[in-house]
Amino acid sequence: MGREDRDSESSLIQTAGISRRERYQLLTSLVVPRPIGWLSTFSAERGANLAPFSYFVALSHTPMLVGASIGHRNGEPKDTLRNIRETGSFCVNVVSKPLLEAMNLTAGDYPPDVNEFDVAGLSMRRASLVNAPYVGECPAVLECRIFREVDLGEAPNTLVIGEVVAVRLDDSLRRIPGTHNVDTESLRPVGRLWSAGYALLGEIRTLPRPG
Ligand SMILES: Cc1cc2nc3c(=O)[nH]c(=O)nc-3n(C[C@H](O)[C@H](O)[C@H](O)COP(=O)(O)O)c2cc1C
Repeated sequence: MGREDRDSESSLIQTAGISRRERYQLLTSLVVPRPIGWLSTFSAERGANLAPFSYFVALSHTPMLVGASIGHRNGEPKDTLRNIRETGSFCVNVVSKPLLEAMNLTAGDYPPDVNEFDVAGLSMRRASLVNAPYVGECPAVLECRIFREVDLGEAPNTLVIGEVVAVRLDDSLRRIPGTHNVDTESLRPVGRLWSAGYALLGEIRTLPRPG
């Protein structure tokens, strides 16, 4: 099949020519599955907060950095971002299969003083090294200190980069002997697809790197 044929069987969508909503639909249905950063934060005024973010990514291991892109609501930063600005801290709770429904409950548009830990019936624990709560039922938690806040220009989002200063692992997680690798099947991570779709762990393939 020549280049011309292939071109005639595909369509090129110029992102400048479609709506904001359509760009969202393309991005969130093509960059899949996305890990979910379930961010827990604290505010002296508003109390504890918990919300999921699937614009979430691992950025570097030394320093150990993760990033979450947090949207604004009615032109105001979401509670998670306000709290991170206040304390310089957050925890990333890894969403494992048994916590999928609870995670979804914490995504509601609740008033700032509502504690999503209570809404979802989750136990709130205090992190060891940072000023943030974490989900007691979560098998793996990253305790983070703010590293940078990055303005994303026209986007109604702010990228928050956190340095992971401690990792909390439940004893139920299997470790690969002699390493710090955590067995993925024991972690049972959940990924986000588009809209209300989620992916659970499927077949795992192991391929040695060439050469
Ligand atoms: C699975 C999932 C992923 C989400 N990802 C994001 C995201 O990456 N960025 C964002 O701003 N909102 C995201 N949301 C919506 C927020 O979780 C929601 O607006 C939440 O109410 C924010 O809470 P807060 O105001 O307490 O910070 C997501 C929701 C769900 C269910």
